[in-house]
Amino acid sequence: MRRKLAAGNWKMNGTLASLGEVQALSRSHTAPKVDILLCPPTPLIWPMASARDGDQVMVGAQDCHANTSGAHTGDVSAAMVKEAGATAVILGHSERRTDHGETSELVENKVNAVWKQDLLAVICLGETLKEREDGDTLAVVGEQLAASTPEGANGENTVIAYEPVWAIGTGLVPTLDQIAEVHDFLRAELTARFGETTANDIRLLYGGSVKASNAAEIFAVSNVDGALVGGASLKADDFSPIVTALEASV
Ligand code: PGA
Repeated sequence: MRRKLAAGNWKMNGTLASLGEVQALSRSHTAPKVDILLCPPTPLIWPMASARDGDQVMVGAQDCHANTSGAHTGDVSAAMVKEAGATAVILGHSERRTDHGETSELVENKVNAVWKQDLLAVICLGETLKEREDGDTLAVVGEQLAASTPEGANGENTVIAYEPVWAIGTGLVPTLDQIAEVHDFLRAELTARFGETTANDIRLLYGGSVKASNAAEIFAVSNVDGALVGGASLKADDFSPIVTALEASV
């Protein structure tokens, strides 16, 4: 069965002084029943990987370039984040799609770059509020899934994170039925494309305003295999109860 995953996305937050949080998290979960991943800003990948108490908390990047090297000022490659200690890379987050104009085609290229380094790709998708109100949610996430996910996806190399854009950082959360509808749809789409065995291995995370107080009910939803957490992943005191809620759902 799929091993559940609690993933934290620090976005552009955190300094060296924040690394006590990963130590506290490591000490609170010495033998976790779920995978735990924290994705700090790039300069903190190496210090975070070094500061961990054990390796029960995986460290990841929030993005990388699709190319392996070259004239790309300000960018980092998959090999670079791997050398720094990352074992996973978030790709296609809505903030990258919006702030940097990233298309699903570009995300697909980045996923291939990440796979070449044997890293785990966490591919993000989600609809805007307008798209939901227009009844286009499944069409939008289906198109993003198809175009962002290369051939060869499997449970070892890929995680899909469903993050409604309107739920990110807003405190708004879809109803449990709405989450179930999208996650069941994504599982069916993966099954149609990759076959049942492979599709059943790929973890589907929910993301968008997950916190300790709503985690347990979200983790009880069908086809939710964990969460991608932004704001509530910055402090161990906030993230640890989410990890514990996920462990309780196993
Ligand atoms: P949030 O962000 O938990 O702060 O809503 C989630 C995300 O963007 O991954």
